[in-house]
Amino acid sequence: MPALPNLILIGPMGAGKSTIGRLLAAELSREFLDSDHEIQARCGADIPWIFDVEGEAGFRDRETQMIRELARLDNVVIATGGGAVLREENRRVLRDCGTVVYLYTTVEQQLRRTAKDRNRPLLQRDDREQVLREMFVQRDPLYRATADIIVRTDRRGPRAVVNEIVRRVQR
Ligand code: S3P
Repeated sequence: MPALPNLILIGPMGAGKSTIGRLLAAELSREFLDSDHEIQARCGADIPWIFDVEGEAGFRDRETQMIRELARLDNVVIATGGGAVLREENRRVLRDCGTVVYLYTTVEQQLRRTAKDRNRPLLQRDDREQVLREMFVQRDPLYRATADIIVRTDRRGPRAVVNEIVRRVQR
């Protein structure tokens, strides 16, 4: 069978990249890979530990390396971390290795979905809303510039989002 282009999910924390990625991969009978999960497995430590010990810059280097490796695969669904679009190299590598889907959500939805989260170092502070709003301003244009397709995830459940992605990538 010919290699099919990868499907790459980008978007902010709490957009549903992992949940939707898993469902999407099952729907298309493809393998699902989550960049954050692969980084943690490789490092043998969780993301808070990596941020603590190596700083955000150390995490970003690991993320860039992981994106390079994941981009060599074919026929897979890849979920990236919310900050993957910050580096120009990552944006280029992701665009070159498949169809990029921006899972758009609102800050209000992010706040709800990440309320009890302890695994995202950038949100372990009292001014989470302010942090998410600043990230939105900085990153939304980068997600848009990188994506082939934009899909809202704040107005319906993951199953409906998956159906829309399948419909639009098969066009
Ligand atoms: C980050 C998002 C996280 C993770 C890390 C940094 C970000 O991934 O990569 O905590 O900068 O937005 P999720 O988007 O999967 O939460």
